[in-house]
Formats: sequence, C-alpha cells, structure tokens
Amino acid sequence: MILLGSGELGREVAIEAQRLGCEVLAVDRYEGAPAHQVADRQAVIDMTDPVQLRDLIEAELRRPCAKLLVVPEIEAIVTSELALLEAEGVHVVPTARATVLTMDREGIRRLAAEQLSLPTSPYRFCDSEQELAAAVEEVGVPCVVKPVMSSSGKGQSVVRELSGAQAAWTYSQEQGRTGAGRVICEGFVDFDYEITLLTVRHAGGTSFCAPIGHIQVDGDYRESWQPQQMTDAALAQAKKVAQTVTDELGGYGLFGVELFVRGDEVLFSEVSPRPHDTGMVTMATQALSEFAIHARAILGLPVPAGDIALGSPGASCVVLADADISNPVILGVDEALSSADGLDVRIFNKPDARPGRRMGVVLATAGDADTARDIARAAAAKITVSAG
Ligand SMILES: Nc1ncnc2c1ncn2[C@@H]1O[C@H](COP(=O)(O)OP(=O)(O)OP(=O)(O)O)[C@@H](O)[C@H]1O
Ligand SMILES: [Mg+2]
Repeated sequence: MILLGSGELGREVAIEAQRLGCEVLAVDRYEGAPAHQVADRQAVIDMTDPVQLRDLIEAELRRPCAKLLVVPEIEAIVTSELALLEAEGVHVVPTARATVLTMDREGIRRLAAEQLSLPTSPYRFCDSEQELAAAVEEVGVPCVVKPVMSSSGKGQSVVRELSGAQAAWTYSQEQGRTGAGRVICEGFVDFDYEITLLTVRHAGGTSFCAPIGHIQVDGDYRESWQPQQMTDAALAQAKKVAQTVTDELGGYGLFGVELFVRGDEVLFSEVSPRPHDTGMVTMATQALSEFAIHARAILGLPVPAGDIALGSPGASCVVLADADISNPVILGVDEALSSADGLDVRIFNKPDARPGRRMGVVLATAGDADTARDIARAAAAKITVSAG
C-alpha cells in the first residue's frame, strides 16, 4: 500500500492496514511525519509534482506485490496524475475521480448541488476581487469566502458587511494551497449543529457510523463527540445525502460527509474520501475505529452492515502548539490521563511545532457525549507543547 500523506490520520491507517497484513510505504513532503514513524518504508517527495508522483508509483509497481493500493490521505496531491495512473490500471482509493473532485471545492460543490440536486448553501465562484464584491452582494451577508483549494480553514473568512469583500479576497490569496486565485463565496449557514457522518462503501454495501458532532474554530476542528443527538428525520435525511454523494464518488472506503443541520433540514457542506479528523473520536467510541473500517473496506474485507455499533459515547479534544518549536516536548500527559477515568491520548510526534499545529488529541469515553466532552477538554488543557 502506498500511503500518500503521512499525517496523524495516515499513521492510524498505516497501523490498521499492517494489522491486516499489508506492507505500507508512507509518503510525505518531510521526513519524520507521523506515519513515517510506523510504516514499513518511507519516502519524501513533492506529491504535487506529477513526475515525482508517477516515478514513485511506477517504482512500486516494479516490486513484487500481490495487490498494490494507492491510498491518498491528503488533498494536496496532483490528482490529475492519479487519474492517468488509474486509467493505466493502478488501483486508487476510493477512485481517482473522487480524489480529483474533492481536492477542489468547485468540483464537489457543483457535483453535489448541480448534478445531484443536494441542498447546499447558496454559492458563487470568483476569480478576482471585483467578482467577489459582486458575489457578496448576490449571496448576501454574512457569507464565507474560501480558496477553492485549501483545507483546515486556511484562507477562510466570514464577510459580515459588503465592504468586507476586499479583505476576504486578500486573506484568501495569502493562505490558499496554490495561490491560484479562485475562491468560493458561500452563504453563511446559521446551523443548529454540524456533523460528520462517516459513511463506508464496502463489498457488502454502505454502512454508517453514529453521527459525530464537532466544533470548529477558524475553520479547524477543536472538539468532536459521538453520538450527536439528532431527530430521526434529520438523521434519515443525513444518511440519504451521504449515500447519494458517496454512491456518486464510488469505490470502496470510508468517507467523512460534512453536513450542516438546522431543525430537520440537512445541508451538504463537503466530503473527504478518506478518514476525517473529527472521526478520531472513533478510536475511543467504536470497537472498529474509522481507520480500521477504512482499511477493511479498501482491502475488500467485511465491514459490519447497516449502522456500525457505538461501544460508548465519547469525545475528542485537540492539543495545539502555540509557538514555533523544533523537536518539541509534550508535557502534562500524566496529569491529563489521571484527571478522570476513560481517558486516552494520541501524541503525533511531529518533528516541528507551529502556532495552531495539531500535535495530539485527547480521547474520552463517558456515560454521555456531553460529559465526555467536558472530560476531554479538561484533560487536553493539562497538556502543553514545550521547547523542553
Ligand atoms: N457556509 C458556511 N456557513 C457556516 N459555517 C461554515 C460555512 N462554511 C464553513 N463553515 C464553518 O467552517 C468550517 C470549515 O469549513 P470547510 O469544511 O468548508 O473548510 P475546510 O478548510 O475544508 O476545513 P477542513 O479541512 O477542516 O474540513 C465548517 O466545518 C463550519 O464550521
Ligand atoms: Mg471541512
């Protein structure tokens, strides 16, 4: 298996795939990434360079291997090259088309809203400050402006007055993945709550994990919990939306379908064709975590049918760095773990800390998700990222 992207999510996928008998080559743009630390072999390349990506995959194809899977774990990959390789017979998870469509907000938004007629916020795509100013007027304020190619909230801002378009444009251009210019201007959804519905396409059909609620700050996740309480009608609608979009993307694997919920109304936001950061909570709440399920699904192995059982309600809370530190030391794990029953941590061992970089996550289980959230948040507050 070639894992394209070796962050904390990739690390868990690598471990689960190895447990099922896979040999894992973990790839990232820097040495010592979380999945590099556990994989059988490591590579450092620029995954946005088609030549480097093709060379790496073709070299693997020359090695003796029963079945080679290319498993993208991040969006920032030259997915057009994956599409070419797939046409030449390489197995890309879940499908190359899914990775192409979801690396770019325009691809997935137009597919969901215009082809599949799924409900979304109103939106416009813009290539200049002038176009954005016009779009803000059409969509109305408040609205959210995001580079079409960005993740973790990078370059994303909320425009609250018509005059805010200029600042939102400038900010989007400084922070996007490629600086390519194009942005989406989306109507701000005043949701009651937002969820990730982990949806698995596997040899036996489609299965769903219990809905995961989460809180995002500056477009990046801080806490998630499972289950999120929902009305039967909202949950049924969420599953319908998730099934529609994942059926269209195709292939086998786990998808993180992001949805906004207002009453019984469910709006599609976006989807990851891979495990989702908010789904780290499943390492505590489910016998099979989202990573274990993904590994089974992509290998064509059995996945529980229907609704995947929740072992216990639980929550996750992130540990963020607040400074630039090389070889940081993580302090306070002892205090965190001893602060309540039912706690666990994952420390990612990233070689460098940066302000806002996710360095670990605290996992908690409890009798209900709200209690687990309180426990996880309090424990995470005891952990610090230090220069030593
Ligand atoms: N139209 C909107 N209305 C209200 N809130 C929004 C809207 N779009 C985004 N948000 C908020 O910002 C968060 C991040 O947005 P989005 O998922 O589109 O960005 P992202 O950069 O892809 O983030 P990630 O990679 O972490 O999923 C959402 O989870 C939600 O909390
Ligand atoms: Mg998102």
